[in-house]
Amino acid sequence: MPEQLEIPMSTPLEKIKTLTEELRQHNHQYYVLAQPTISDFEFDQKLKELEELEKAHPDLRQPDSPTLRVGGAVSKEFASFQHERPMLSLNNSYSQEEIMEWDRQANELAGGTPFHYLVEHKFDGVSLSLHYEDGLLLRAVTRGDGVQGDDITANARTIPSIPLRLRGEGWPQKIEVRGEVVMPLEAFQALNEQRAAEDLPPLMNPRNTTAGTLKMQDSSIVASRSMVYYAYYLWAQGLDARTDSERMNLLTQWGFKQSGAHRVFSSIKEVRGYLDQWEDDRKSLPYEIDGIVIKVDEVGLREEIGYTSKAPRWAIAYKYKAEEVVTRLESITYQVGRTGKVTPVANLTPILLAGTTVKRASVHNADEIERLQLHEGDFVRVEKGGEIIPKITSVVVEDRASGATPISFIDHCPECGTPLIRNEGDANHYCPNDLGCPPQVKGRIIHFASRKALDIDGLGSEIVNQLVDEGLIRQYGDLYSLQYDQILPLERFADQSARNLLKGISMSKEIPFERVLFGMGIRYVGATVAKKLARYFGSIDKIAEASVEDLVAVPDVGKQIAQSVFEFFRQPQHQEQVAQLKAAGLKLAIEEKSGGSNLLSGKSFVISGVFSSLDRNAVKQLVEENGGEVKSSLSSKTSYLIAGENAGPSKLTKAEKHEIPVLSEQDFLDMIEWPGSTT
Ligand code: IVH
Repeated sequence: MPEQLEIPMSTPLEKIKTLTEELRQHNHQYYVLAQPTISDFEFDQKLKELEELEKAHPDLRQPDSPTLRVGGAVSKEFASFQHERPMLSLNNSYSQEEIMEWDRQANELAGGTPFHYLVEHKFDGVSLSLHYEDGLLLRAVTRGDGVQGDDITANARTIPSIPLRLRGEGWPQKIEVRGEVVMPLEAFQALNEQRAAEDLPPLMNPRNTTAGTLKMQDSSIVASRSMVYYAYYLWAQGLDARTDSERMNLLTQWGFKQSGAHRVFSSIKEVRGYLDQWEDDRKSLPYEIDGIVIKVDEVGLREEIGYTSKAPRWAIAYKYKAEEVVTRLESITYQVGRTGKVTPVANLTPILLAGTTVKRASVHNADEIERLQLHEGDFVRVEKGGEIIPKITSVVVEDRASGATPISFIDHCPECGTPLIRNEGDANHYCPNDLGCPPQVKGRIIHFASRKALDIDGLGSEIVNQLVDEGLIRQYGDLYSLQYDQILPLERFADQSARNLLKGISMSKEIPFERVLFGMGIRYVGATVAKKLARYFGSIDKIAEASVEDLVAVPDVGKQIAQSVFEFFRQPQHQEQVAQLKAAGLKLAIEEKSGGSNLLSGKSFVISGVFSSLDRNAVKQLVEENGGEVKSSLSSKTSYLIAGENAGPSKLTKAEKHEIPVLSEQDFLDMIEWPGSTT
């Protein structure tokens, strides 16, 4: 037998195990210690190698595989989970007097036994309880109502500072870790910039964004949000560590990230010094804290000091006040975006707030003007919510001039004079003159040419403005009939720049369909939704024909998006644009691999269950287009079972019996190198 002659250097299982371990180590170096020892490129190479191996041997994937971190698992709903010990909240205090009072009481309840104070940042994020068994991450549960929370394990796995396997040794068989998930300010800002580019409203603050992200159905979006987990609490049966600070040290040894700011003090005076120090220093932290938590360090003594019904008496939160200043509202101006959305902006008398001069604040929409009861010339309180976007919190009503005129939302477009409309259920006003209103006309073309859409080199906002003002284009479809002779005479253009622009435009014909669809600027269709629509329907014609009902069947597409897509394709000018793009040869369908790929040749597949991003027929078609064969029943000769949700239990059992690898929807899409796939 030839097999007997082959002595493999290392088996796939050994290779997979070695890579998993190596990547785990590098992940820790990078995300927990911030001391990478290899380049990002090398890391990606190794990850890719592991992915390929796992693709070829899905059953050998390790439970702590770093490939789990890229996400892809889609949760339709989260199971609830009852906490073994309730997740309590903390009592708040806003002054040092209250801290002194808490200290006096804690000492009294401790019966005179001296104790230490463990002080630490109060992270302004979302608390998360992690359960490990035999060193492996088993479950991640949100706080919920404190008694039971949601099991969001698939999402938690994508957060790189959450260890999938504990480091070191000596950990008890079962442990629970609690900590806070936060979104660093830089990541939050980047996300909002990206949203602005997609004409989406900004997110309020990092905490709400973190909470929303952790509850998303698609874990690959969670993976993209750069969130960080800071651990502050450890529980296990029979731990030797008698103080919280020792337990924090154990957490560090086992691979968890900490702020590095926690300290142990023996007097309340030192605690107060720490509170003062962070009052200012917190402003330069990469994440937000809303105060300091002070805890009795001796765990045994905590039980003596005890609890109220909601919170421990052995701990207290000292909260910092959000920085607020009062300034004068000089005027409200209105900005019109590319979708016609009208956003009121408050122009303020410039004032220094949290280190920057604030001149403007967004007022979001008419409801917000109403809520604030804004009047002309009002003095307003401005807060730096999230320390980034200034926000008007309220009006100093006492200081209002008598007879001041209330501000009411405009009823005509400030750019083109068209009466504004406001749809039911939508907080925003829109200018309906999408063909004639200059910022809309220009904005749509700028968006179309932007990096995440058609990525047309050399076509920034200034050039777009110039081309529109000169009457050379009025919609993005017109770009493709631009001629060299038309561009050359324009100001700032010369032979080379004219050629470059035309080349950029021509190269955009190679951009994949989902990005063309995103570039078309359909209201509410951001990059993610565009990808889902493209993947689901496969071509622009199918999307244009789809009914509202067909559209809501797409994952993550609600009524509002569906309605907007439907209406978009009913309008003659959009039909004309689609025709222009078609004539120019842009990609208006997902690239078919038909005939081309033989990735699956010689392999047979059985399909079971329902799928989240494709219907069953599409899965079948994809198998066949890639050279595979679809069978209706499993036998020992079947190569793979593709199992969607609610896959038949008998099929799964049979697959197990015959040792047939089971592929998830994502595994399958990865296998055929599907263009929209996350890898
Ligand atoms: S210890 C028994 N430490 O604040 C409570 N909590 O308002 C033990 N929080 O639910 C909590 N940073 O989500 C603790 N360093 C820290 C914290 C912290 C933030 C959160 C936690 C808790 C909430 C209470």
